[in-house]
Amino acid sequence: GNCILAVGETRVAALRIARTPDALVAPWSSGQDATLSRSNQGFDSPGGQPIKAFNREVEEYKMLVSATEMLKKAKAGHYAVGQFNINDLEWTKAVLTAAEELRSPVILGVSEGAGKYMAGYRTVVGMVNGMIKEMDISVPVALHLDHGSYEGCLKCIDAGFSSVMFDGSHYPIEENIEKTTELVKLCHGKGLSIEAEVGSIGGEEDGVVGMGECADPQECKMIADLGVDFLAAGIGNIHGKYPANWKGLSFETLAAVQELTGELPLVLHGGTGIPDDMIKKAIDLGVSKINVNTECQLVFAEATRKYIEAGKDLEGKGYDPRKLLKPGADAIVEKVKEKMILFGSDGKAE
Ligand code: 13P
Repeated sequence: GNCILAVGETRVAALRIARTPDALVAPWSSGQDATLSRSNQGFDSPGGQPIKAFNREVEEYKMLVSATEMLKKAKAGHYAVGQFNINDLEWTKAVLTAAEELRSPVILGVSEGAGKYMAGYRTVVGMVNGMIKEMDISVPVALHLDHGSYEGCLKCIDAGFSSVMFDGSHYPIEENIEKTTELVKLCHGKGLSIEAEVGSIGGEEDGVVGMGECADPQECKMIADLGVDFLAAGIGNIHGKYPANWKGLSFETLAAVQELTGELPLVLHGGTGIPDDMIKKAIDLGVSKINVNTECQLVFAEATRKYIEAGKDLEGKGYDPRKLLKPGADAIVEKVKEKMILFGSDGKAE
């Protein structure tokens, strides 16, 4: 049916940019500061008529980048780049704000469930590209599918993500190898980076529950040799909060994986709640990407609860979502900055 969306002046800029035509998103470059000129000719509508709204002056686009370069640099420089999972517009804006303020490269993680929640992968691509432009984000940003299924990877490649993770850890190793091989070829052909997983990482993520296994280093080597750009190996880590009786990370497994995979950046999932000294030791042993999700959710929920419990939503226009969601968004900015400093990625954007 017909529908009129009313948008305040401050929101118009973000919406205008959000419908990025495919032609601008598809030809990936793996360069750190890839830019693409867009001409002022119209983009054809399905009916063949130029869509007037898309006619505009020549503009320079700072695009998403694959995560390959930033993680190679991290491995060589003995620090890690954070993957912060995004859940909505506020989340995305908060993570980008933190990265820009600290001059840190950043990876925005999107689970399949979060992608669905945000109205699909194309919506996410449009939103992130729009923010990079409108917020003048000048640090390298990768948009990465987290724990993707085979079909999910295909959709994200098509939608304009710059990186994907194929989580084939639940398949027999032969099938994991077969599917990973195919996706590596596809991703590299389009300039995307690809992460693979060996050894199921525990906890619950979008309904998938793993047991926190330790990966077999030989299997890691087999998957690494397929040409993936970075590898997640289970080392006793789990998603979400760690139970009180958690035994900690298996540094023996990590050292054995690192020994066999050499220069390949390794990924530590389940970053929430791992003590700082274990994070630092993991980085020393070759971890170059650390995923954080739950910790941002916890600080967001806590700050929002405080706001409501203090009755702020009942004062004046405190119910306005721009006010109601602000304490939570600010808390994410602070948490992400804290993690970037812990991981050592601050100041590494140049
Ligand atoms: P946490 O939710 O435990 O921080 O884990 C995030 C993660 O690993 C996403 O893949």
